Amino acid sequence: MSDAKVLAKHPQVKELDPRTYFWCSCGQSSKQPFCDGSLTGSTFSPVRFELTEKKKEALCLCKHTKKAPICDGFHSKLK
Ligand code: FES
Repeated sequence: MSDAKVLAKHPQVKELDPRTYFWCSCGQSSKQPFCDGSLTGSTFSPVRFELTEKKKEALCLCKHTKKAPICDGFHSKLK
């Protein structure tokens, strides 16, 4: 299991514009749910994803999803 910081045990639902995003995988970014470069020097990498149209997404905040950056419900298994 990842030792990423658990920010919340629920996703953040956001209406996103079409463009490229970098989802924070380590949980240290101050610009959640997106990467701000805080992971530099760690074993984590941001997850790049691109939207070609405006879309509402449930972005994982527990940082343990297996379908990053999208919530897969894994947060419900965290203690
Ligand atoms: S918030 Fe991480 S799996 Fe749902």
